[in-house]
Formats: sequence, structure tokens, C-alpha cells
Amino acid sequence: MSVSPADEQLARSILDWFDVDGRDWPWRASRDPWVVLVSEVCLQQTQVARGAVYVERILDRFPQPPDLAVAELGELLAMWQGLGYPRRARNLWLAAQQVTETGWPERLRDLPGVGPYTEAAIRCFAYEEPVLPPDINTRRVLARVYPAGAPDHGTFPLLGERAWAWGQAVMELGQTACTAKAKCGTCVLEQLCPSAGTEEVIASPRQKRYAGSMRERRGTLLRAVTDAGATAWDSDPEAAESLVTDGLATRGGTEHELLLPPR
Ligand code: ADE
Repeated sequence: MSVSPADEQLARSILDWFDVDGRDWPWRASRDPWVVLVSEVCLQQTQVARGAVYVERILDRFPQPPDLAVAELGELLAMWQGLGYPRRARNLWLAAQQVTETGWPERLRDLPGVGPYTEAAIRCFAYEEPVLPPDINTRRVLARVYPAGAPDHGTFPLLGERAWAWGQAVMELGQTACTAKAKCGTCVLEQLCPSAGTEEVIASPRQKRYAGSMRERRGTLLRAVTDAGATAWDSDPEAAESLVTDGLATRGGTEHELLLPPR
């Protein structure tokens, strides 16, 4: 399939912009699948600047999968405090064990917690394959630039060599200029994008209310457990049970306490 001059110009514009203005996140200096996996897991549902602090801390302590594989899950859960959705932490810990034992699988989705997005992110950001990770930002950019449907991005001639940069750049554009309410005046594609200036807001899905939610109750208990090593089961039996079901805590101390999970 041939690539139109318009598509080629568009790809070049995005890449040239990214080469100059792309932010220096720690994971952008690496092509190590572990660095990419840790970053992507931490950044899910999280603002990049906030997630970056966690990524650096976790990679400092666990620079490679075997470092995490031999650690207690409780140590990672303690480092995870404030990031939320701690099932991600447990899946990361399980993935570290799997990679340590049998290496990186051919089918990345065989790793716990790795779905289509994270698989595509590892393929693009670690293996430099021409796969665009389908997150909310890249989807929004494509929807605006190609209202009638995006061409197969693998057809872009530049992507053979610049697959990594293409993925990072499209994501960055969606985080900076091509946001839900687009800032077309600041966008490198202003002259090329058919949606420029239309001011249509593409709403992002809202996160459910946190205050009073089960997520909050689980978070409160898990914080107590990671801070003190144990908390009273009866302070919130329903949330306690749900943490145990997810493998994030265990019941003990003659059944009256919620404790960190065993290895
Ligand atoms: N969010 C998820 N992955 C990212 C990346 N590689 N760069 C910036 N933000 C991201």
C-alpha cells in the first residue's frame, strides 16, 4: 500500500516536533523491556509526572526482573502507596517471577497484567516494532487527524526506522496539544489536521468517584497494613476480604488481623 504525500508530511512533522520538544522522561532513555513494562504499569490511570516519580523509585530498587522476583510483595506494595490500583503491583511482581524463570515470552500477553495496550507498548518502546500503542491519547490524535479512519500506521515509510519515536511522539501530542479540549494553536499539525480549530471536545472517560468507594476502603486498609504490618480485620471486613481475594493481603493473627501477603 502506498503512502500519500500528506501522510508522509504529517509523519515527518510529528517526528520533527518530537525530536525537539519531546520530554525527557526516564523511560525514554531505555529500550529495556523491563523498564518499559514497569513504566507502563505505573503510568496506567496516572498523570505522567506523578507516575514518573514511582517509576524511578521502583527501577532504582528493582533494576531487573530478578530483583523484584526475590522481594516480598509487601515491599512493592509499600512503594506503591499513593499510586492506587495495587493489583497492578501484584501482577508486576508475578510478571517479574515469570520472566526470571522462563524469560520474556513470545506472546507478551502471557504475562500477568499485560493486555493489548501494554503488549503494544513493549513491542514499540522496547523492541522498536512499528506498532502504535492504543491508549486514550494516541486514539484521540488519530481520530482527529483521520476522521474517516486512520491508515495502517505500519505503512508510514519512516516507521521502519523510527517506530519508537512515532509511538512516543503521537502519545506526547495527545498529552500536550491534542488534549480532550484541543490546543490547536500550539499543535505542530495545525496546518495539516482536518480537525484543527473545530473545538470539538473528545471527552475522556471519567474515573469513578473515589470518596466512599470500595477502592478507597481497600486503599485505607492496605496503607495500614503496609505501614504497620497488620491492621484489625473487623475495621472493614468486606474490604479486607476483597484484598485477600486479590492476593494483596492475608488473614492471620488468629483470624482477627489483616496482614501482608505471604510470598
Ligand atoms: N504514558 C504511557 N506511556 C507513556 C510514554 N511512553 N510516554 C509518556 N507517557 C506515557
